[in-house]
Amino acid sequence: MTRKLGVGVVGIGWCGTEHLKAFVRNPHAEVVLLCSRDEARARERLDRAGVRIPRARFTRHYRDLLDSPDIDIVSIASPNHLHADQAVAAARAGKHILLEKPTGLDLRELARIRDAVRGSGVRTIVSFELHYNPYLRLARWLREAGWLGEIRFARVQYLSRVTDWYSGWSWARTTRSGRSHLLAAGCHAVDALRWCSGLEAAEVSAYGETVTTGYQYPTTMVVNVRLNRPGRRGGKAALGQIVSSTDFMMPYTFGVELMGDRATLRDNLLLWNERSVALEQLQTACPIAHVQFHPDKTPTGADVVRIACEMPGTADVGSHPFQGEIDELVACVLEDRETHLSVFDAQKTMELCIAADRSAARDGRPVRLPLLRS
Ligand SMILES: NC(=O)c1ccc[n+]([C@@H]2O[C@H](COP(=O)([O-])OP(=O)(O)OC[C@H]3O[C@@H](n4cnc5c(N)ncnc54)[C@H](OP(=O)(O)O)[C@@H]3O)[C@@H](O)[C@H]2O)c1
Repeated sequence: MTRKLGVGVVGIGWCGTEHLKAFVRNPHAEVVLLCSRDEARARERLDRAGVRIPRARFTRHYRDLLDSPDIDIVSIASPNHLHADQAVAAARAGKHILLEKPTGLDLRELARIRDAVRGSGVRTIVSFELHYNPYLRLARWLREAGWLGEIRFARVQYLSRVTDWYSGWSWARTTRSGRSHLLAAGCHAVDALRWCSGLEAAEVSAYGETVTTGYQYPTTMVVNVRLNRPGRRGGKAALGQIVSSTDFMMPYTFGVELMGDRATLRDNLLLWNERSVALEQLQTACPIAHVQFHPDKTPTGADVVRIACEMPGTADVGSHPFQGEIDELVACVLEDRETHLSVFDAQKTMELCIAADRSAARDGRPVRLPLLRS
């Protein structure tokens, strides 16, 4: 292929601007068309963010992105209630898709996206960009490489205080578009729990509470999960928990705990009881760049390994690793292969969110998964 892959973006807001920055940096992609309800406002946003794409055209009509023969990839960064229709239309038009989370807001939307993408064979990547964060990569590797042993318990907490400072406040706090705290925000924690632990939900039981004013849905969700080991029958059960909240008076926190039968990862600490973790061996084996391991002690004097690396430490999309996901999508389109984070994989995360919301609406009654049969 001699020409670059043409890119169209819909939703020139907080997140879409970061998609644009990453596409501009990719040497095999060229942004050709932007869909905005107001060109002058979008141009002003891009100027403010320092995004320079002088050759890009603008349109107010999403259909123009799909009808443009010079567009190969459509990036969907619009409010949540528009994702399913836009993704289905893009797939039917044969466009590869970068789809912001949440993919679909209910089972019907999820099935429509799945069927349209399956039918067209386009490549998709869903924007759980924390997969490219060094700490999350490390957590997954520690588990995969056996340093933690078999996972018995996994907990991920997404705690982010989002109020009227947020550019998407008008829509994200509504049930029509944001839909629920898990779908709008905590899905990052659900996805990380699945990706890092390698386990899949079999059943959930959840509670929700509405605390922060302005939201049309519960603003703290606590979800207990029975976890299965995919591809394995029997074996010991694993349990998980997801906490998703905007209510707590603390800075943004993305807490990760993976407790195995050999060792435990708890945020930036590696802990153990019987078998100590061999620090030098760990440092030599670790394939993730810029990760350092240091010996340390707990407040009660136990030996631990302290991890120094880039953590998922902010809600600011300007610091999120979108480059990794966009580079992967572009490479997969060029090489005609599936991404590791397609709509098919993300569907499992969405189903878990929807199941937890259903359970919370029924006062914690357990809901079994999967909700959709393939
Ligand atoms: N992956 C992540 O870490 C991450 C982080 C933040 C957000 N997101 C996701 O990205 C998507 C966009 O969120 P955002 O934070 O960028 O929100 P935002 O700042 O409000 O941007 C959304 C853009 O969509 C366009 N739009 C089209 N129809 C609209 C409507 N009816 N109401 C409001 N805006 C409309 C607007 O651009 P125009 O005015 O130019 O049309 C708006 O700027 C959401 O799905 C969100 O969940 C993901």
